[in-house]
Amino acid sequence: MRKLILAAASVAALALAGPASAQPPIVIKFSHVVAPNTPKGAAAEKFKELAEKYTDGKVKIEIYPNSTLYKDKEELEALQLGAVQMLAPSNAKFGPIGVREFEVFDLPYILPDLATLRKVTDGPLGARLLKLLEPKGMTGLAYWDNGFKQMTANRKLIAPDDYKGLKFRVQSSKVLEAQFRALGAVPQVLAFSEVYQALQTGVVDGEENTASNIYTQKMHEVQKYLTLTNHGYIGYVVVVNKKFWDGLPADIRGQLETAMKEATAFGNGRSAKENEEALEAIKKAGKTEIDSLTPAQDVALRKAMEPVYKDVASRVGQPLIDEFVKETGGATH
Ligand code: LMR
Repeated sequence: MRKLILAAASVAALALAGPASAQPPIVIKFSHVVAPNTPKGAAAEKFKELAEKYTDGKVKIEIYPNSTLYKDKEELEALQLGAVQMLAPSNAKFGPIGVREFEVFDLPYILPDLATLRKVTDGPLGARLLKLLEPKGMTGLAYWDNGFKQMTANRKLIAPDDYKGLKFRVQSSKVLEAQFRALGAVPQVLAFSEVYQALQTGVVDGEENTASNIYTQKMHEVQKYLTLTNHGYIGYVVVVNKKFWDGLPADIRGQLETAMKEATAFGNGRSAKENEEALEAIKKAGKTEIDSLTPAQDVALRKAMEPVYKDVASRVGQPLIDEFVKETGGATH
């Protein structure tokens, strides 16, 4: 009898435990604008895999790539409102919500290579920049790489004069607008999801982007020329809605932090290779002429973009630019 009672009690305990362990998972909606097979897309997938594993399924990550949920500006608003929990917008996209400091990453030729970038993002300056997001209701979790930008157009772009009068799509960054103005071109801000069509229909003549973004959005199919300029950088800040993040149980937040750290190392460890492969694929597709600059042509382009530093000094902040240049030691300005 005693045995029976004990057995019944354990069945009851199990029944009680049942609904608790079947609690619905915490869902993190992660929205982004690029294809899954890009540096950001792959890092997001890795984060999902690790986050779900480390939290033992208590957290479910739903990834919405390719602007399927929101476009550039909307996704930042959606994050602030709590409609999505996680994003990884490029540095260039924080200006419109009032955090202009991230535009420092957009300055032409400010980063000679990814190793130097790491000095900034992994150091005190990187941490301080992330703190600026908190008053906007966001917590910055990590810096993710894409890589260096190349120029594309339907006109061959070698000398600074070749840019004159052409319309170039830019991300929502005043630094990038100033960069094209310095070349005598006309910048036009467009959401990433609209670039292919704008190029195809001639709304804009050209754009700048990494090879992986160009290839996965098929921009090379509607651009006759690509010049290897490596003149600027595209990278991301992984941000999460602060209220949501602070409200998570501490153990789960810790597990997610570990997953983010590992996903960051994974993504940043392969971004350069992904861009090399994408460039190869663009070459193979045979629709775009790929041009390189001679050292003299490279110097000419750098010189033409030099005024940008002064043009945006008051917006981005001269002390921040100086600090950044000191950290990187790379800018030729
Ligand atoms: C762009 O708008 O060109 C990029 O920021 C897209 C991205 O997220 O890489």
